[in-house]
Amino acid sequence: MILRTQGLSKTFEVGFRRRKVRAVEDVSLEVHEGEIFGFVGPNGAGKTTTIKMLMGLIYPTAGEASIFDAPIPSNASKKRIGYLPEHPAYHEFLTGREALRLFAALSEVPRPLAPRRCDELLELVGLSSAADRQIRKYSKGMQQRLGIAQALVADPALVILDEPMSGLDPVGRKEVRDLILELKRAGKTVFFSTHILPDVEALCDRVGVIMRGRLRDVGRIGELLSPRVRSVELTVELCGGSEHLSRGRIVACDGPRVTVAFDDEQAADAAVRGLVGSGSRLVSLTRHRETLEDFFLRRLGESSEARPESGAARAVA
Ligand SMILES: Nc1ncnc2c1ncn2[C@@H]1O[C@H](COP(=O)(O)OP(=O)(O)OP(=O)(O)O)[C@@H](O)[C@H]1O
Ligand SMILES: [Mg+2]
Repeated sequence: MILRTQGLSKTFEVGFRRRKVRAVEDVSLEVHEGEIFGFVGPNGAGKTTTIKMLMGLIYPTAGEASIFDAPIPSNASKKRIGYLPEHPAYHEFLTGREALRLFAALSEVPRPLAPRRCDELLELVGLSSAADRQIRKYSKGMQQRLGIAQALVADPALVILDEPMSGLDPVGRKEVRDLILELKRAGKTVFFSTHILPDVEALCDRVGVIMRGRLRDVGRIGELLSPRVRSVELTVELCGGSEHLSRGRIVACDGPRVTVAFDDEQAADAAVRGLVGSGSRLVSLTRHRETLEDFFLRRLGESSEARPESGAARAVA
């Protein structure tokens, strides 16, 4: 097992009266070798706190975790992890290339290999033409790209990315998605946090859904989503009356071509039989099942204390 947490918890004490905030509560999950694992949750759910514990940047208040079978924090396993923090910070007077070379040196990339490796990574993240510009002149998206290059500089076996698509435009997001898939193809394991659900659907082998500090679900997306058909949409070219469509809602109407939605699958099937029997032409039939977004909103709604101001953790004292 590449990564395993058992009852991992973090309670912060804030303010003068040391008010306790449970940011992460009893999170147990496993990440398997070679998979892309999405750690999904709304703002303030506890994603960054969990990742910081995995990286040994803050200590858990309870529970344990191991990476490459070594309990955290372990310097030996850290050498095999590439990490993109939520808010990467750089020496802004350095150029992108200089910063990456510095990270390569800190990550003990052999010196003769470093220049080539850095150039390849700058190319990979689309920063070649800006490589000799100072980082303070980088846009947010460029800084994020540099962060991703930095995470990969030591050719890690496990890549932990905290919101890798943050600040990227649609093209940049697509590039990072492709890059993550490329990492998987190269045999790496990727653990990344996000609240961008289409990215999760496009990328992840498995997901962990965290809400208000608690892990609500873990599994393959197909296992988590309800297989029930939520609605059926029919588009027909009517020949004669529209009485067979009476149990549906008209969504669009363009001359004889009508699109109707049914909440009940059986009603839709009956309508199709009636329509075809009366000579109408069926243009399309789409069965809508639960999407990840539907699932996410359903689970959020089920959480009795869903979304206080920022989503966040529970104050206990
Ligand atoms: N150092 C800290 N001291 C006190 N509370 C903290 C600290 N760090 C995080 N928290 C609280 O812990 C909760 C979880 O925060 P965290 O940053 O882990 O959420 P997140 O899931 O990464 O959210 P986002 O999607 O906005 O990045 C929040 O309520 C946050 O206010
Ligand atoms: Mg975060």
